Amino acid sequence: MALSPAAHGNAQPPPRRAPKVLAGQKALVTGASSGIGRAIALAFGQAGADVVVNYVANARQAEEVVEEIRRCGRKAYAHQADVSQEDDVGEMFRRMMAEFGTIDILVNNAGLQRDAPFHEMTLSQWNAVIGVNLTGQFLCAREAIGEFLRRGVAPSVSVAAGKIICMSSVHQEIPWAGHPNYAASKGGVMMMMRSLAQEVAPHRIRVNGIAPGAIRTAINTAAWETQEAYQKLLTLIPYQRIGQPEDVARAAVWLASDDSDYVVGATLFIDGGMTLYPGFTTAG
Ligand code: BGC
Repeated sequence: MALSPAAHGNAQPPPRRAPKVLAGQKALVTGASSGIGRAIALAFGQAGADVVVNYVANARQAEEVVEEIRRCGRKAYAHQADVSQEDDVGEMFRRMMAEFGTIDILVNNAGLQRDAPFHEMTLSQWNAVIGVNLTGQFLCAREAIGEFLRRGVAPSVSVAAGKIICMSSVHQEIPWAGHPNYAASKGGVMMMMRSLAQEVAPHRIRVNGIAPGAIRTAINTAAWETQEAYQKLLTLIPYQRIGQPEDVARAAVWLASDDSDYVVGATLFIDGGMTLYPGFTTAG
């Protein structure tokens, strides 16, 4: 016989709250003052993590992200560092160890574009993109892995000894004329991520990638700010809308949580179908 609600001693079920899948975890999100990084830092705070908000230039925006995370009842602070600089990265991790004690999740998100036709691309444009997008991910991952190996699994926090999410792009797969430095950096991120994932998986460290397509952020304003540009962009997106930073942030929460514990060395494409090569729908 079914029990009446009163028999449970509580006529109304408790209000449903979103599960805090990252409760008690310490996260570092690079490039978190705007765009995808900002959305991930906020979603991590909502999911119960304490968050270091790394930024390179915009202190005010970074502080706003920090304030919003604190309003969720989590700890957060902003830290300026250029991820392409070894000393900056070392200092960022030393401070995190001092303030938070450890790191459970690294999101290697900081990235930039310096576009030019190939024959006009300067060495400094090439180096700037490889430096931040690829070398920056190496430097941060190296620090995080060192701490994950030292600490090992903390069962009350996560079943894994640490998680790294490497922000890639659909351009780890789709060649991109006029952006050879960017595409090369993301192809590099993909193979660094997979090689590292293979190396550290036996230590219960999970390394994965996210490859966003066109997401409405400052990096690609030209692709969506006019009606004409937006219509052209939609010809590349079977799902017929641009992505929002939150589309990526929700996936990052899942990849960082124990819900994805058997996901190792994978790249999650979040692109509305951009990598389905929509040009072939009616041709080829
Ligand atoms: C780039 C954006 C671009 C998107 C799709 C991203 O990785 O940063 O500028 O809109 O790929 O091409």
